[in-house]
Amino acid sequence: MIPSREWTLGLMHERGMPPHIIRHSKTVRLAAVYVAAVLQEAGFGIDVRLVDRAALLHDICKADSLLNGGDHALMGRRLMEELGYLRIGEIVGQHIRLESLEVNEAMVVNYADKRVMHDRVVSLQKRFIDLMNRYGKNEQSMQRILKHYADVSEVEQVLVRSSGFEPERLNHLNLITGDHTLDG
Ligand SMILES: [Fe+2]
Repeated sequence: MIPSREWTLGLMHERGMPPHIIRHSKTVRLAAVYVAAVLQEAGFGIDVRLVDRAALLHDICKADSLLNGGDHALMGRRLMEELGYLRIGEIVGQHIRLESLEVNEAMVVNYADKRVMHDRVVSLQKRFIDLMNRYGKNEQSMQRILKHYADVSEVEQVLVRSSGFEPERLNHLNLITGDHTLDG
């Protein structure tokens, strides 16, 4: 079962998602749908509607986790499961760490999120330099971020090899005027 766009946007507002996270999620949606379309063209059975909604909802519990702690991917997964949207929950639950290197909707949303810094599409490198500056506080956390960067680079390579996807093309999405002003 996949929720409607209307219901999805309603839930985001109902849960008090802050405007900057809504903006981030909308750009991730745009990037994810682009990647999904490339994969579809290459013959993969990717559900673009599922990707669209899961991308919008991937950080649905981020604000909660910043306030009260906890793993926001896992919290988002549980919330979506409680609401009866199991497939969305599976994808939200994997938006930080993928469970496999299978080309599927979870991979698309996970990768798209790594290509969006705030509400702009950037390279993986740029995104991880920012993460390093913000969260690389000691040797251990720096190593963790480097490992994560290596993992996501591998995901990018899987997408490139399996579909001919060109990572730089995603940057063109920054040329599309958004409706962000409507979010405050
Ligand atoms: Fe997140």
